[in-house]
Amino acid sequence: MSNPWLGIPLADYEGHMRAPGVEQLNALADLFAEALSFCRPESLAILGIAGGNGLDRVDGAVTRRIVGVDIHPEYLEAVRERHPELPLTLLCADLQRELPVQEPVQMVHAALVFEHAGMDGCLRNAVDLVAGQRYLTVVLQLPSRSQAGVAPTGFASIQNLKENFRLIEPSEFCSVVSAMGLALVRERECALAGGKSFWMGIFRQGR
Ligand SMILES: C[S@@+](CC[C@H](N)C(=O)[O-])C[C@H]1O[C@@H](n2cnc3c(N)ncnc32)[C@H](O)[C@@H]1O
Repeated sequence: MSNPWLGIPLADYEGHMRAPGVEQLNALADLFAEALSFCRPESLAILGIAGGNGLDRVDGAVTRRIVGVDIHPEYLEAVRERHPELPLTLLCADLQRELPVQEPVQMVHAALVFEHAGMDGCLRNAVDLVAGQRYLTVVLQLPSRSQAGVAPTGFASIQNLKENFRLIEPSEFCSVVSAMGLALVRERECALAGGKSFWMGIFRQGR
């Protein structure tokens, strides 16, 4: 079965994420900026890069190599057009099956990705990519009393994501990552205008 993301135009995804009651794009960009300033990576991989939300927060004097991965080729094309100034390598891949990056990076960022791509192959590959390097930074959506997993907005295509979406408990996530040898060095929650909230964890490998 084809991945439901492939049926979602970037304008629908970004329109949904900016819609009143959702308002998640800025919050995700702010968390990404916070992770960048904590980790100060020379090399960075962004899993599920979508349209490149937050790439304007990357300091080119610090980060010299950026790899973006997504399953949707048109999203990657948009990132390329939006950020010609960045040292970007963009890879179209299904993270459930592979993460075709050869050289490890100092920071892997995955925001709202494991909920869609699952933890099995995707998390193992993400951890392998920081091997001997440094940080895995992750944003998870927390359960909300007021809203279901995928909020209703005017963008009908987004509702097709519901079936493949699974909330992940930060405690469950932390135990799996810790068993893979990474330590949680920072965590925080971020409340959103629409009533949901995010959890960000920064994990480090080695000292
Ligand atoms: C919720 S969006 C990510 C938001 C983005 N990280 C941010 O901070 O704004 C999820 C992204 O993951 C991508 N994605 C979902 N499943 C995937 C998979 N199996 N392999 C690769 N990319 C996937 C989608 O195409 C989409 O761009």
